[in-house]
Order: sequence, then C-alpha cells, then structure tokens
Amino acid sequence: MKSPPEDLTDPEAERAAKRLSSISGGKVLDIATGDGTFIQTLMKSLKDYESFVGIDISEENIEPAREKLKEEPVEILEMNAESLEFEKEHFDSVCISYSLHHMVRLNEVLAEMNRVLKPGGHFIVTESYCDGDQTEAQRTGILSHHWDAEVDSLRGVPHGKTLKRDEIKDALGNLGLADIEIFDSTQSINCLLCNRWSECSDPMNEEGIEKAIKGIERNLGNLEELEEPETRSRLMKEGEELKKSIRKTGTSPACNLFLIGTK
Ligand SMILES: C[S@@+](CC[C@H](N)C(=O)[O-])C[C@H]1O[C@@H](n2cnc3c(N)ncnc32)[C@H](O)[C@@H]1O
Repeated sequence: MKSPPEDLTDPEAERAAKRLSSISGGKVLDIATGDGTFIQTLMKSLKDYESFVGIDISEENIEPAREKLKEEPVEILEMNAESLEFEKEHFDSVCISYSLHHMVRLNEVLAEMNRVLKPGGHFIVTESYCDGDQTEAQRTGILSHHWDAEVDSLRGVPHGKTLKRDEIKDALGNLGLADIEIFDSTQSINCLLCNRWSECSDPMNEEGIEKAIKGIERNLGNLEELEEPETRSRLMKEGEELKKSIRKTGTSPACNLFLIGTK
C-alpha cells in the first residue's frame, strides 16, 4: 500500500486505510464506478487483488474510466445496479463509493450486491453524510450538493440529497453483514492516497473554490431545461446565493462514513 501523507490529521481515515491494506480483494466489483476513482484507490490501498469489474448505468460517465484503466486488470461495463448480470457469489469483494444517494431503489441495489458476493467476502461502502458536527465550509458543501441533487432530479438524472448517517447505517443494517467496522472521518480515503491532500483540505483553497463555483454554474446552465418558471427562478436565486457562500466560507466535503463488513 502507498503510505498516507505524513501531515495527515485524521486518524479515522488513516485507520480505514490501514484496514484496507489488510484485505485481499480477489475479484472486486465496484458499483456506480463513474470515472473509476474508487477502483484506483483500492488498487493502491488493498493488500492485493486479482481483478476489478466496474459497472455504471451511464456510458458517458464511464468513458474516462475505460481510457485511464485500459492497461489494468479492470473491466468497465454499462449496467444497472438494480439487476446485476452476474451469477450469485461471483465476487470476493463488492463496493460502492459516494453513490448510495444516487440509487432510486437502494435496497434492491444492496440486495443485488449481496447476492453476487461470496460468503465470507468483503462488503465495502463509503458515503458522505449531512448531519452531526460539520464545519461551516462542510455545511456550504452539503447545501451545494442538496441544490445540485434537486436540479439533477428535476432534469431526470437520479440524484438524492446527502443522506443522514443513520439512513446509511439502517440501509446497510438490512443485509445481515458480520464483523461490521465503521470509520467516521472528515477525509475521503481517495484523498489519503493523493499527494495534493494538504492543499485540497484547505476550504479556502482557490482551486477548490473555483471548481465548486464551476459546478454550480454548470447546473445553472441546465436550469433552462426546466419548464416550471417559478422553480427555475427559485433555483437560479439559490444557485447565485450558493456561489456567494462558497466564496465567503470556502467549501469542504461532508463527513464520510466508511464501512467494511463480511457476508
Ligand atoms: C457520484 S457518481 C460515482 C462516484 C464514483 N463511485 C467515485 O467514487 O468516484 C454516481 C454514479 O452513479 C451512477 N448510477 C446512478 N444510478 C445507477 C444505477 N442504477 N446503476 C448503476 N449506476 C448508477 C451514475 O451514472 C454516476 O456515475
């Protein structure tokens, strides 16, 4: 495993990364893989692995993953997580990163992940939550995400608001996993293994602020697709207010729940 940065201030995130470094992943399935970021993190952080399959419902979203992972033992497939096209108990590990809140039928997706996981296999989840103790910059990040989720949903793109911590735990609680370990952290595992960790963790970091504002502006542009003039003008106003808040308080990712259990 690549070592976490020396100036790391989040012992929980480091503990989660250490736990990952004790796991042999075997055949790993990554649900809602997007641009494949979590596959790359697991490649760096697991003790070892045989291969990865990443699935996502959007062909457009997975194109970058196909390109950047083409030299690796990684297969990227367009597939709906609600009905996985694999035999039962096919994988040694299954995971889902920052995507539970995108699932329209979350319980079906989790049950499918469990079905394709071998007995004794690892179930790995990482997801942001919106409640509890969060800094002002994190609260700005959460409000921006809620706004984004509303705009996406109105455009027909499945995207829920950031979940509460107990909502995540309750959804996973239905699976009957054993040996559940939970790590609460303010730092994503992805960041732990990135050498730009320290500059990004500053909420007033220029690049982070510009990226967050660009994200809002992209979705302000998408508001033209909405037919309801009142909803459009409310969201327009809220989006402009969010840009001001981001400049004032900076923005940080919400707290993060990292869970590892076995089937
Ligand atoms: C936040 S992004 C993925 C983030 C990625 N896992 C990471 O850690 O960087 C959420 C993804 O969920 C995908 N998605 C939404 N509903 C899905 C479904 N039913 N089946 C598979 N993928 C889905 C979207 O296409 C999108 O790429």
